Amino acid sequence: MKHNALIFDLDGVLVDTAKYHYLAWKSLADTLNIPFTLQDNERLKGVSRRRSLEIILEIGGVAKSEAEQEALCAEKNELYLTYIRRMGAEEVFPGVREFLLDARERGYRIALGSASKNAPLILERLELTGLFDAIVDGNMVSRAKPDPEVFALGGKLLGAAPKACIVFEDSVAGIQAAHIAGMAAVGIGAPEALPEADLHLPGLDGVKIDAVERGLP
Ligand code: BG6
Ligand code: MG
Repeated sequence: MKHNALIFDLDGVLVDTAKYHYLAWKSLADTLNIPFTLQDNERLKGVSRRRSLEIILEIGGVAKSEAEQEALCAEKNELYLTYIRRMGAEEVFPGVREFLLDARERGYRIALGSASKNAPLILERLELTGLFDAIVDGNMVSRAKPDPEVFALGGKLLGAAPKACIVFEDSVAGIQAAHIAGMAAVGIGAPEALPEADLHLPGLDGVKIDAVERGLP
């Protein structure tokens, strides 16, 4: 095998949380009289909570102080958590658990590299925590993707050199972050959406790590 460590983004790679982010942001936007659509929600994927709020305020042409923005983020997260707390293992994307189990059996070390501060809770709800050797979440990093911090820390916690790591990502910024970190990047989603990825997969259903290794340059 060419690599020995795998680092996974969470939202959009292991599970669809975008729909819950949307419902929570939508409620908040409604209270602010800001029009917010599913199409707008696409712009929030892979983006930090605070930056997501800034984008929504920009859409509405609404200005808020620092303190107000903090409070709005906290309010949104409370709403988001009402959905997350109800999640179950059946929401894991098809094939993810099997892919992780197969990779572990073959000796790969596995980390999470997510911008979400809720990542540990989500992994618990999905019953996936035990399959990860390290978890890097939004509480542990200060710079957002495309900054490589989240993946660099993941590799470090796994004791793996960047060249030994494969990142699985569904966002353009995440693919860039992986490359800046010196890691291979597998794009989960349509090839047109992630032109910089080293390999494209629609998802992990029916995929094995040895096929990923063969597909990478
Ligand atoms: C990313 C999501 O994984 O986490 C973004 O793609 C989200 O949409 C970001 O804004 C931060 O998540 P959280 O859970 O800390 O608000
Ligand atoms: Mg993502």
